[in-house]
Amino acid sequence: MNEKIDQLRALKAEALLGGGQKRIEAQHAKGKLTARERLDVLLDEGSFSEMDMLARHRSTKFGLEQQRPLGDGVVTGTGQIHGRTVCVFSQDFTTFGGSLGEVHAEKICKLLDLAMKIGAPVIGLNDSGGARIQEGVVALGGYADIFLRNTMASGVVPQLSVILGPCAGGAVYSPALTDFVFMTKGTSYMFVTGPEVVKTVTHEEVTFEELGGADTHASRSGVAHFAFDNEIETLLAVRKMMSFVPLNNREKPPVRPTHDVPNRSCERLRHIIPANPNQPYDMKDVIREVVDEADFFEVHAEYATNIICGFATLDGHPVGIVANQPASLAGVLDINSSVKGARFVRFCDAFNIPLVVFEDVPGFLPGTDQEWRGIIRHGAKLLYAFCEATVPKMTVITRKAYGGAYDVMNSKHIRGDYNIAWPTAEIAVMGAKGAVEILYRKDIDKADDKAARMQELQDQYNTEFANPYEAAERGYVDDVIEPQQTRHELIKALRRLHTKNDTNPWKKHGNIPL
Ligand code: HXC
Repeated sequence: MNEKIDQLRALKAEALLGGGQKRIEAQHAKGKLTARERLDVLLDEGSFSEMDMLARHRSTKFGLEQQRPLGDGVVTGTGQIHGRTVCVFSQDFTTFGGSLGEVHAEKICKLLDLAMKIGAPVIGLNDSGGARIQEGVVALGGYADIFLRNTMASGVVPQLSVILGPCAGGAVYSPALTDFVFMTKGTSYMFVTGPEVVKTVTHEEVTFEELGGADTHASRSGVAHFAFDNEIETLLAVRKMMSFVPLNNREKPPVRPTHDVPNRSCERLRHIIPANPNQPYDMKDVIREVVDEADFFEVHAEYATNIICGFATLDGHPVGIVANQPASLAGVLDINSSVKGARFVRFCDAFNIPLVVFEDVPGFLPGTDQEWRGIIRHGAKLLYAFCEATVPKMTVITRKAYGGAYDVMNSKHIRGDYNIAWPTAEIAVMGAKGAVEILYRKDIDKADDKAARMQELQDQYNTEFANPYEAAERGYVDDVIEPQQTRHELIKALRRLHTKNDTNPWKKHGNIPL
């Protein structure tokens, strides 16, 4: 018996070493942790239970039969984050460069199947040279098996992808199918084709980092939702994200005790709206003032900054916040901000996270660039996402709610549950200048003092429309409140909406304008 136990121990010790000490040192020299070290940071201490540690590939091509490392280049299993179960895989770059062959793929598929059965989130730590070249089409098939499972799991369990090394070619599509992509600056990259191929095909000279590094994807392409300076920060951010999301689509998000009192008066908000309606202010100041302990976990912080998305808690309950940002492009809606907002709204709705909207929007961005690239179709995504969402939905109009954007930003008409406005709200088809120019052009042309007449007409328009009271008369806003009451009113609404039960008509699936 002792011999057999010794043999088992030896096997497990070998598995723990992955591709061996030399390759572990090479990994460290690049500023990267190993697959197992990453799991130590990500998971609660001692909570990891490994699966398939002794799996080996079955390939006999290109001499692979001589090299059959235990685990086949990926560590899989379950663990806990804040005491709640998650399914994790962590690709081991020290074994065949973390490349994906048949058995490596089988291990990830088995994990995804388990996640669906037990209703646990999936967190994938990616660090891989892609399809294992020696295994050919079997490796490609393995990717497709994973893509199918990612798609089936979408909206059932949260899926988070963490890119901590190479992720190239078709391999990028597993992260792309998941809910959130985290990247580390300087050591991770994602692209469909690398710099060499780009140079051959388009004659562009571009570095790995410029083409597909963390900053590129977090600010330019929007492929990544988060970019951090190092792996530890990246993995700790994943833990933080987990504190806002439920384990699956049948659960409510986790409640977190807070010392922040529900009826705290938000005094800063009394003076936050500038006297000049064209002057910006930072909507993140509004958000931080309202939420518990000013703790706002922003998603896509560097991308499409004219809309703000992120998680916070109110009264200890997680909410998804979507807000126009007057400090960026005047908070206008354009293609990127619409798509960013829509995807976030759909995540929150899929996982029972109530939505809170802070609205100050002058409308959609004009111009040939936007029109020719399809702002109509892309703007419709945000509209569609808010329309179909059945979670508790609240809106606070702080200032402008103009034109189609008024309807889109979770208006009462599209099933907003609790829509309120500050006295500074301006709810109208458009701003005073544009409206007066359209309605009174001839009148202004005839006037001796054109500027004075223009001002007079604008003042008249503002008296009529630059306020929330016509909307309030019609019940399009449920109340007009003093800004400092915002936190308390939202919390009261959230408490009564916890039992909300709304559904959409039966359908195979909707047809969101993609
Ligand atoms: C098999 C691979 C591999 C691969 C790396 N290795 N990629 N083995 N299949 N795809 C092995 C190397 O042989 C080496 O083995 C070890 O991993 C580390 O690789 P290095 O090249 O020494 O590391 P580094 O210099 O850091 O370069 C990393 C790399 C490079 C940039 C990822 O290895 C590389 O370009 N690999 C090929 C990438 C690729 O073209 N993959 C196919 C993409 S297409 P030893 O034994 O020396 O340690 C794809 C399609 C998916 O993935 C389709 C889905 C539909």
